Amino acid sequence: MKDKARLGVVGAGYVGLPTAAGFASLGHRVVCIDSNRDRVEQLRAGRSVIRELGLDELLEPQRRSGRLQFFEDFEALRRSDIVLLSVPTPSLPGTGAVDLEQVRRAVAAVAGAISQPAVLAIKSTVPVGTGDALAEELRRQGSPLAVASFPEFFCEGSAVYDFFHPSRLVVGAEVEWAADAMRELLEPFRDRCPVLVVDRRTAELVKYASNAFLAMKVHYANTVADFCEKTGADVDSVLRAVGLDPRIGGQFLRPGPGFGGSCFPKDIRALIAMGREWGVPLDLVETTLRGNEMRQMALVQRILARLQKISHPRAAVLGLAFKAGTDDCRESPAIAIVEGLLAAGVTVAVSDPLAMEGARRLLGERVLHAANALAAARGSDVLVIGTENFPDLDLEGIRPAMRTAQIVDLRNAVAAERAAELGFYYEGIGRPALATIPLPVSHPGAGEGECAPLPQGRTRTGTTTR
Ligand code: UGA
Repeated sequence: MKDKARLGVVGAGYVGLPTAAGFASLGHRVVCIDSNRDRVEQLRAGRSVIRELGLDELLEPQRRSGRLQFFEDFEALRRSDIVLLSVPTPSLPGTGAVDLEQVRRAVAAVAGAISQPAVLAIKSTVPVGTGDALAEELRRQGSPLAVASFPEFFCEGSAVYDFFHPSRLVVGAEVEWAADAMRELLEPFRDRCPVLVVDRRTAELVKYASNAFLAMKVHYANTVADFCEKTGADVDSVLRAVGLDPRIGGQFLRPGPGFGGSCFPKDIRALIAMGREWGVPLDLVETTLRGNEMRQMALVQRILARLQKISHPRAAVLGLAFKAGTDDCRESPAIAIVEGLLAAGVTVAVSDPLAMEGARRLLGERVLHAANALAAARGSDVLVIGTENFPDLDLEGIRPAMRTAQIVDLRNAVAAERAAELGFYYEGIGRPALATIPLPVSHPGAGEGECAPLPQGRTRTGTTTR
């Protein structure tokens, strides 16, 4: 039987680590390179470096068996048949174009380490034409590496599941032996999903076209939610019914504070920059990006409206990661909303069971870092749900601790009726506001029985004026 390809993975991050561990579990010998010495040492010692469901359990036996090894030095790649490159491709400030510096440096280091023919498959999200340019550069240097594009479709939080259950695998390769090597690598997946082998530019564009479409879908759901708020229609029912049409599909129609994370905003900015470069108008994509940014500002105003007549207002923001189930706060809508509240002079307490470290890096000591939801809520005038990282929120316990009992639920995560029964004013996304009893006033600056006004078109009973 033919030996399995020896793999190299460059970049032990959210994409690289699950990929390295996944292929090791399929019987490949995998060498994983990361330029961060501390990370390499931790990985060698079997310690977790990223929070990803099922990753530690997948990694550990591979590390112990020696099938998966970690190095800082690219020399360790010298015997690799296929190297998968998964280093960050951040946005350049200003234009939003992609900063390819880390890719270029990594490609040069791989080329320096490997002198026999091998496939260099780019998993990092790179602009259309990058693979061609890298291939040309390597050819000029006399390197025997063949560049392929192998875009990644993992979601953060389910990367391990996604590795074993891909919806499709896409490879872009120009030379037949490289395409064959990739087909062989992906053989175990052939009965699970379509494996598309195309040219490099096509594969590169699939990634941007997919992420932009998903982001547009989220933005569209948010636009429908806005419409529901104005008209009194119920967003959950509207979007459920819309999503039941198989041509549309029900996923990525959850309304909320807008999309964030390390991929959608960055990739959309890059696509817009590419559109300018290639002379392709991308109005839909531009509107999606702008609309998403404006949404976060509008939500800050919505929260401020709940704090209007309160002197020294204080907000508790629960859930700071860019989505539930992760510790990642990169381009998180919840963080943007905290920034907006701080800029308006509101005191903000924050809490997130997973993401406090990331939040501290971004927000520093400008906010109060609370150990749990109750501590954040104590003395606050509004509870803002930023992500669904609090599945068992004890509203009954929180209610008496708050100065003003109001909830603005940006993820429709709280049981609205229950909150209203407990005496909260409740406002979600695309739903009528609810409050069953008048708000108590225990704060200076507002008269007895007075409370912040409800937004137009809503009543305290949950019925909506039209
Ligand atoms: C996204 C894509 O979904 C992956 O397919 C892709 O591989 C990845 O980017 C990438 O390019 O590496 P991810 O960034 O992990 O994955 O996050 P998503 O689960 O897609 O969520 C993105 C944002 O949209 C989050 O802020 C999330 O809260 C928001 N969202 C998503 C909604 O507001 N509503 C939805 O219905 C779905």
